[in-house]
Amino acid sequence: SKKKSLTGEKIVITAGPTYEKIDPVRFIGNYSSGKMGFALAEECAERGAEVTLIAGPVSLNSHNSSIRRVDVETAEEMFRETVEAFKNASVGIMCAAVADFTPASTADVKIKRTGEELSIALKPTRDIAAALGEIKKPEQKLIGFALETHNEVFNAQEKMRRKNLDFIVLNSLQDKGAGFRCDTNKITIFGIDGEKREYEMKSKAAVAADIIDFLEAIMH
Ligand code: C5P
Repeated sequence: SKKKSLTGEKIVITAGPTYEKIDPVRFIGNYSSGKMGFALAEECAERGAEVTLIAGPVSLNSHNSSIRRVDVETAEEMFRETVEAFKNASVGIMCAAVADFTPASTADVKIKRTGEELSIALKPTRDIAAALGEIKKPEQKLIGFALETHNEVFNAQEKMRRKNLDFIVLNSLQDKGAGFRCDTNKITIFGIDGEKREYEMKSKAAVAADIIDFLEAIMH
């Protein structure tokens, strides 16, 4: 059993993908499994925190009774639940792969095949991390994730500043065994005060412990 170093802390974590409805039977989604976010929720709960886990559509279970799970489907629902939960939280961890675009309108009946080309107009979704960054109080901490295909370091640090995060976790896409759907991950953490920490490839449970160690170091 772990040291209850996060007793009294309320931590809100987003995890998984979002599904954006095209019509009653179709959606736009992504390959996020939610595993990293769920591993973070378990780690925080084991250290004594009260966790609210805002989960997109995933096929994962959480057993810890200190985790309050809120299931959502769309980016809009995730936005609403996360902003509400962050109001009396001490930490926000934005681990979800939120859709960047959603259909401008959802058809209320199934769209029929016509043999013609079909275009679906998309509108941007709201950025949850950036919204929390704007309402963040000095005593609250906010953590984000970045998955980049090019200029990784520059883009991750730019994102951290723009969204007013305390640190950002860069997922490597370069390494096999890291990122979406895997059980392992390889990360680098950049802190707002210029810290940089590179980690070895590890299980997502061990990566979660590293991330929460970094969090505790900036909290205390
Ligand atoms: O800008 P980008 O989507 O690459 O930023 C990734 C970070 O922002 C992640 O922490 C992700 O959870 C968060 N994010 C969010 N809401 C969005 C888009 C991204 O919270 N609509």
